[in-house]
Amino acid sequence: MLHIKNLSLSFSRYGGMSFRKVPLKIISDFNIAVHTGEMVAVIGSSGAGKSLLAHAILGILPSNAKLTGDIEFKGSRLTESRKKRIRGNEIALVPQSVAFLDPLESVKKNIQRAAFLNTGSTAKAGIMMNDAFDKYGLADNVGGLLPFQLSGGMARRVLIAAATVSGADLIIADEPTTGLDRNAIDDSLRVLKELTSEGKGVLLITHDIRAALKYADSIAVFYGGTTLEIAAPEDFKHPEKLRHPYTKDLYSSLPENGFVPVAGLNPFGDMIPAGCVYGERCSRKNELCETSRPDRKRINNGDVWCHHA
Ligand SMILES: Nc1ncnc2c1ncn2[C@@H]1O[C@H](COP(=O)(O)OP(=O)(O)OP(=O)(O)O)[C@@H](O)[C@H]1O
Ligand SMILES: [Mg+2]
Repeated sequence: MLHIKNLSLSFSRYGGMSFRKVPLKIISDFNIAVHTGEMVAVIGSSGAGKSLLAHAILGILPSNAKLTGDIEFKGSRLTESRKKRIRGNEIALVPQSVAFLDPLESVKKNIQRAAFLNTGSTAKAGIMMNDAFDKYGLADNVGGLLPFQLSGGMARRVLIAAATVSGADLIIADEPTTGLDRNAIDDSLRVLKELTSEGKGVLLITHDIRAALKYADSIAVFYGGTTLEIAAPEDFKHPEKLRHPYTKDLYSSLPENGFVPVAGLNPFGDMIPAGCVYGERCSRKNELCETSRPDRKRINNGDVWCHHA
């Protein structure tokens, strides 16, 4: 359904003392595919560019952003004008924060407005809104509340309802679990997972590895603005099956696997090296890693970008 190939994103901004605009690299050579009925998780740390990746797919980047690479949706190229046409109806975003809702409109009005933008008919929008209330178990009294009056878990349900009311085929959920307790996390992800059984594709953007491993069908490891590995959640049960040194280090850094820290910082902007983005922190780094970006290798039904794999 969605195929992203070699996506790169940079910002032009004033830098240094020169009063000249210089590019700030955020994403480079990012690759991923989401198929019908599949939930793919992109896991990455804070500030890595995950929200910008979502905004790039939807065509809602700031004007100083430069995007290159290919995005295909349902077999044809996703151009900026097509993005504009299909966002909100074929591709929907569950945004990172409740601040994306209209703060002065009730929950009911917010969801109805999303439906109206899609059908253009008030009567149909009313029916779609009622269906969404039933589907997501939103009680009648929730409809009258303003967004700021919602609890964290309820806010996520409302955001998911508003995004999916149009019947979009691809749902991009940006950090749908941040700030929630374990029950609310499960609740929110179960709702998204149900959408895959209706044949929707879900791109789950998160830094919650545990949640991703529990619900996603495939895990894309995002680091230094690029994909380092795409693995099945089961691979994380047997660390020897993981293909990239970073993914192995990530596994060992989980509390249940020893909490082993890795020295160094995630590279960002000008610090992103020309070679392997994990090179600086990798125990296997050699000259080749420093000078050249690894190509994709397919190993045991997964993908890896590493010279040593
Ligand atoms: N318009 C812009 N111009 C320059 N830099 C920007 C712009 N917008 C975002 N950035 C930078 O891009 C980086 C990635 O931002 P993004 O919001 O995508 O991160 P994220 O992975 O979603 O983080 P979080 O986990 O905190 O949500 C940030 O460090 C941010 O400072
Ligand atoms: Mg974000």
